[in-house]
Amino acid sequence: MTNELSSKVLLVEDEPVTNRAICQSFEKYNYTYVSVANLNEALDKVKTEHFDIIFSDIVLPDGSGLELLDTVHDYLLNVPFVIITASENDQLVQTALNRGATDFLSKPFNLQNIPTIIKRNIERKRIEHERQNPRNVKALLKAIKALISALEAKDSYTSGHSLRVAHYAKLMGNEMNLSEDEIYCLNLSAILHDIGKIGLPDHILKKSSSLLESEYHTAKEHPLIGSKIVGNIDELFEVAAIIRHHHERFDGRGYPDGLKGEAIPLLARVLAIVDAYEAIVSRRNYGTELTPQKAFTELEKNAGSQFDPMLVKIFVGLGEHPEFFNIKDELI
Ligand SMILES: [Fe+2]
Repeated sequence: MTNELSSKVLLVEDEPVTNRAICQSFEKYNYTYVSVANLNEALDKVKTEHFDIIFSDIVLPDGSGLELLDTVHDYLLNVPFVIITASENDQLVQTALNRGATDFLSKPFNLQNIPTIIKRNIERKRIEHERQNPRNVKALLKAIKALISALEAKDSYTSGHSLRVAHYAKLMGNEMNLSEDEIYCLNLSAILHDIGKIGLPDHILKKSSSLLESEYHTAKEHPLIGSKIVGNIDELFEVAAIIRHHHERFDGRGYPDGLKGEAIPLLARVLAIVDAYEAIVSRRNYGTELTPQKAFTELEKNAGSQFDPMLVKIFVGLGEHPEFFNIKDELI
């Protein structure tokens, strides 16, 4: 979890004097920040870099800060969002808060308040995160198992695949020294990552030859469908985000949102690798599957373009792990 002092801030403010004053304040308190002056640049930044908090003016030269807020919300990025606004505009503040803004800064404002705002927003996110721990909801697991068996009935390949993906994900989590909560979340995401396939027509799901362009387009909906199914449960917000982004590519050419590099949630970057590995070693079309060694080489070939290169390195190293080939079929 992010420590408030190592936080990276995005500032979106077109008014030069205000922009400069806020930047000086970030500098004074040693925050790392990126500053832009319009909506399009801001949209580009949230797709290519990771931020721990965003400060955005509402009225921008090429659009509204609310559009940025909606985009961050749609991508399930869970970044605290502080709007900067003229003090007299209560209605606008209310609208922004209803749409997911977490705080506001009214002009004219006292720059000394900035560290407090950053601190309280990041702390609130931490508390919320703890409260929404999926482990707190035991009954949930039953619902998840029911979902998985529903998918299994429709497509037996996916359920076996998901269990094997979960096995590799767990080893990755341990190797990366993730917290127990993160490993739990990664495990659930691995098991559920393709749950959205439940929404795909049978002729696409079961097709063994390659998909037509239009069928491929439909199949690409599964991360969105999956994240919507799972996202209805508050405690699974983070799992929903990982499911949504498990087909993003490190170079930004993936789907559904084209997020790039560290803008892709870390656990989604891990899942992309273990998912691809499992698919390569157990391809549906008999005879096209690769040996583990060749699969590792395939991942290495795509490190930096499709996958996070640092994570590929860790995963390939796991090939030596005594448990790597010891897959148990326990669920959660
Ligand atoms: Fe998938």
